[in-house]
Amino acid sequence: MAPGFNLEREDDQQIESRYHKGVKYLCDNNDNNNGMMTRVPRKYILPVSDRPNSRGEDRANLNLPVIDFAELQGPNRSQVIKSLAKACEEYGFFQLVNHGISTDIIQNMIDAGRRFFELPYDERAKYLSSDIFSPVRFGTSFNQSKDKVFCWRDFLKLSCTPISNAHSVWPSSPVDFRKVAVNYSSETKFLYLMLMEAILESLGLLEEAMEKENGNKSLKEFEDGSQLMVVNCYPSCPEPDLTLGMPAHSDYGLLTLLLQDEVKGLQIQHQGRWLTVEPIPNSFVVNVGDHLEIFSNGKYKSVLHRVLVNSSSSRISIASLHSLPFNRMIQPSPKLIDEANPRRYKDTDFATFLDYLSSRDSKNKNFLESRKLM
Ligand code: OGA
Ligand code: NI
Repeated sequence: MAPGFNLEREDDQQIESRYHKGVKYLCDNNDNNNGMMTRVPRKYILPVSDRPNSRGEDRANLNLPVIDFAELQGPNRSQVIKSLAKACEEYGFFQLVNHGISTDIIQNMIDAGRRFFELPYDERAKYLSSDIFSPVRFGTSFNQSKDKVFCWRDFLKLSCTPISNAHSVWPSSPVDFRKVAVNYSSETKFLYLMLMEAILESLGLLEEAMEKENGNKSLKEFEDGSQLMVVNCYPSCPEPDLTLGMPAHSDYGLLTLLLQDEVKGLQIQHQGRWLTVEPIPNSFVVNVGDHLEIFSNGKYKSVLHRVLVNSSSSRISIASLHSLPFNRMIQPSPKLIDEANPRRYKDTDFATFLDYLSSRDSKNKNFLESRKLM
């Protein structure tokens, strides 16, 4: 073997392992041009057909339907429930305003998330894990062990079920991180439960869901459900047209509550076009996940979305994903199946999803497609 060969391979491996440390690390440890990164490394360059500007019309803004949470609790509830149903059918997304979570709690969470990614790399690296069941996991890209081209995104995933785990294992640095994140997760869980109740009502399934509990008027299986929080960090990118912060995907659970800072980047697919969601300060972007599309037998849509990056600002978002307990089977509600509306999806559980994750290699194919009966 030629003497240079090993050396070359080692260099390649070193470069490769550097990408696994994340985009923030890459940007902070770049020694070209006085530390200014001017080009995107090859590892992040998407094939032309997958790039965000492959079609000129991919830049239009979209004002999502707005749902006023305070109004949902008032005399106009039935009207708001109708708007909610329409948004879930036509967009799979809505903006939630007047949700009652204080500006402090929201700003503190965004701020704590940002400060986590500003820590020295070694501090973040304490939470590196390839175990998807780990209650805390720092990583990069979308599906780090599978992606050939990497996404311009680092993440911190925090499992909130059971929340008692969080107190010992969530990051202890920045010093206030754990407290802020625990607080934020319980507020979003409460909001999710109130929204889920409205969604069950809009599907005509509320009575049935409540009666399941031996006459107790509660939504216990929803209350006991899973919650995963994902803090996403998208550093500013020197060539944003060549890459994506997140590829097109749909979310796994029933509902996702997404908090974004003032920087736009989220795009949703609507009527065949990619449209950019205008951020509304202190609001949540809420979307229907695969489980709710299945549960509603296709009435509500789990819609593809993706994230653009930009050259001037970094962006932070916090996604809170909610579903039933992990071991529960999700299936179309029998009340929504009849001759005119046959069952459209196979039963689904977490194991099915894991099988899918480990088998797939193309990012754009979505899990939901694999669960459809026709
Ligand atoms: C997600 C997601 C969008 C964003 O975390 O699943 O779609 O704007 N995030 O970060
Ligand atoms: Ni998503």
